[in-house]
Amino acid sequence: MEIPDILNEDEIRNNLKTEWNGREIHYYRETDSTNIRAKELAKAGASHGALIVAEAQTQGRGRLGRVWESPKGEAVYMTTLLKPQIQPIEASMLTLVMALSLARTFQELYGLEAGEHGIQIKWPNDIVLQKKKITGILTEMSADIDRIHYVIIGTGINVNNRKIQEELQEKATSLFLGTGKKLKRSQVIGKAMEYFEQDYQKFMESHDLKFLKEDYENFLVNKDVQVRVLDPKGEYNGIARGINDKGELLIEKDGRIITVYAGEVSVRGMYGYV
Ligand code: BTN
Repeated sequence: MEIPDILNEDEIRNNLKTEWNGREIHYYRETDSTNIRAKELAKAGASHGALIVAEAQTQGRGRLGRVWESPKGEAVYMTTLLKPQIQPIEASMLTLVMALSLARTFQELYGLEAGEHGIQIKWPNDIVLQKKKITGILTEMSADIDRIHYVIIGTGINVNNRKIQEELQEKATSLFLGTGKKLKRSQVIGKAMEYFEQDYQKFMESHDLKFLKEDYENFLVNKDVQVRVLDPKGEYNGIARGINDKGELLIEKDGRIITVYAGEVSVRGMYGYV
């Protein structure tokens, strides 16, 4: 018999084994966007590690101002609020930390391997299964020049979706469609919070990805693969060789290594979405 996938505050709490991450929960049956809620809650004094979850969003947003369709019932829409004592310039790495934590989560819960036959990360932070996107992350920050007020990491995960909207079917899938396995969304959220708590700790030890780089690279879809770098100053092709401690993508071009910053340029596979 199928387990009912009910998502509410109690369900989330019952699946949480963390010390601080996700301990303050704000659950909405419907809201505009968990990122918008997170910003409001941050201003109102919500704590480091607060977790905002919605069953449905009416103004879900993706990167580059795109719409993130957010119907109820099958997917996860959540945002983690952080108040890290790091420099504003270091904050973009947190998006890679979250991508790694989510990749580990799917690997463990769905019994998948890291790499081509399982879970992959498309730099910097899309998570991919069978060459199709299953998760997107939108990180936003409020800061002065030398001090962060807060960072919010919004995550949309296609967990139990039985169908992907027609225009996205070439590029996106869900964990259920890719594996045939249906899990409770609260279990996925709980495990993701647990891994993120551990990975965040490692990030804070060095304020960079030194202790996470190797694990991240194990999931990296672009490693040793030809990519096209969509640099606003001029597009070019190269071979992605991995990331450095700052999370920048290393591109080999004409025998030289060029570093590519997340947020500044995007990288596209030469064949299809990845
Ligand atoms: C992307 O474009 O890949 C990022 C998508 C991020 C979507 C999530 S869903 C939860 C949070 N709230 C939003 O409005 N966006 C993020």
